[in-house]
Amino acid sequence: MTTTAPAATPAPPLVPVPGPRSLPLLGNLPAFGRDPLAFLVRLRDDHGDAVTWSLGPRRSLFLFHPRHIAELLGAVESDYDILDIGWAFRQVVGHSLILSKGAEWRRKRSLVQPTVRPRQVRVYAETMVDCARTAADDWQDGERIDVQREMQLITQRIVLRTLFGNDLGEQARALGDAMGVAQQEIGEEVRGLGILLPSWVRTPARRRMLEAVATLDAEVHRLIRARQAAGAAADRDDLLSRLLAARDEQGRPLTAKEVRDEAVTLWAAGHETTSTALTWIFHLLSGSPAARARLDAELDRVLGGRPPAFEDYEHLTWTQQIVKEALRLYPPAWLIAGVAREGATLGGTPVRAGTIVWCSQWTTHRDPRWFRDPASFRPERWDPDAPDPIPDHAWFPFGGGQRTCLGARFALVEAALVLATLAQRHHLDITPADVVPRPGLLIQPAGPLTATLRRRTPGGTA
Ligand code: HEM
Repeated sequence: MTTTAPAATPAPPLVPVPGPRSLPLLGNLPAFGRDPLAFLVRLRDDHGDAVTWSLGPRRSLFLFHPRHIAELLGAVESDYDILDIGWAFRQVVGHSLILSKGAEWRRKRSLVQPTVRPRQVRVYAETMVDCARTAADDWQDGERIDVQREMQLITQRIVLRTLFGNDLGEQARALGDAMGVAQQEIGEEVRGLGILLPSWVRTPARRRMLEAVATLDAEVHRLIRARQAAGAAADRDDLLSRLLAARDEQGRPLTAKEVRDEAVTLWAAGHETTSTALTWIFHLLSGSPAARARLDAELDRVLGGRPPAFEDYEHLTWTQQIVKEALRLYPPAWLIAGVAREGATLGGTPVRAGTIVWCSQWTTHRDPRWFRDPASFRPERWDPDAPDPIPDHAWFPFGGGQRTCLGARFALVEAALVLATLAQRHHLDITPADVVPRPGLLIQPAGPLTATLRRRTPGGTA
């Protein structure tokens, strides 16, 4: 499917202009923290494509033009350091690949990558459909469900079964809750002043966070011990087996803590992101009868009433377009940043070392210069013969460059197959129709989304 085209207009030269006035020490953090999404849109509309601002005492530069974003993402691994997004995030991911750089990052990425390569994703497709079918089987006509929670349960089962070979049965709900608490606390810290607190300070929020992480750790260490005890008899080709079998140049295995860090990172990165995307997808479909009718027609035509399989993915083109359009309007990950090293440049202009350079999927995905009628849900804009080409890096829900999301293919196939499996059997009518997006670590609905289920007959109508 044709998705992107070269930028329609040349990138303007990169001339950073000063953003809004900032407070001593806090900089623009209070204004950003009050309403980050509105703040960023104002930053672009009032100041331009490259704007300096300050997050706390740190000098920052925000980029809004796709060409500059492409340049930043392409150079992140070589010219930028990782931005420390705070104590809470470190508690979850530890020293995993997501916070590593250089040779250490390459080593860890090459260890983890094989578990989510396209050939593996093909194998995982059956599990993805199976987990969605279990949910669809439980759902009753007329029942009201909490959409976000249902999606979390599905994607958590998928990530646990595909990556750890175990869906943890009854434990899954409690662990999902612990992961939810951890991710919420990370979000609070990213958005608020918590990011400036020294790591030794223990607030009630931090104590909650530590409890949640302890619950997660206990389960992951239990899984590790069980797999170590089973040894070769386990005969599994999942992430856990690969991490346990990995050896460094001296032939040393990873420590239990290192295995835990990679495992929890994949778990965190791989389930809440996709469940959030699915939640937004059902919200958008509920408000768009025409898009939903076209989806019904595609599912009936391609699947004829049977459950989807990996081979159907490429034929479910409208389903894929719905996923892409939802990721445009509500990108779960909404900020990417790097800290410039000595010698970093953008658009030929030197960037002062230590500057935090940012870009946001939210603002660029909703920029009227790249997307006509940007606030509307229009999956047809992704038609191969759509009249408006979409510039490269105007859509980047998975980031880009060398650090691009490791699970992008996994997530796209998962979202499409789960959507197809659920939508084939049920319509989700969601209230309220107006939902406020709340940016934390991810952009999620501010309140619960409740759906009334209406059963469909696969191959027929609702
Ligand atoms: C809709 C779902 C998803 C979204 C929107 C998403 C988004 C992202 C983004 C924006 C990044 C940072 C990229 C950058 O800095 O340029 C990232 C990194 C990453 N993602 Fe995803 N992701 C999703 C699903 C997944 C899944 C399913 C997995 C694993 C199974 C995963 C694993 C990772 C990992 C390990 C990284 C760190 C890569 C590195 O630092 O080398 N993600 N993701």
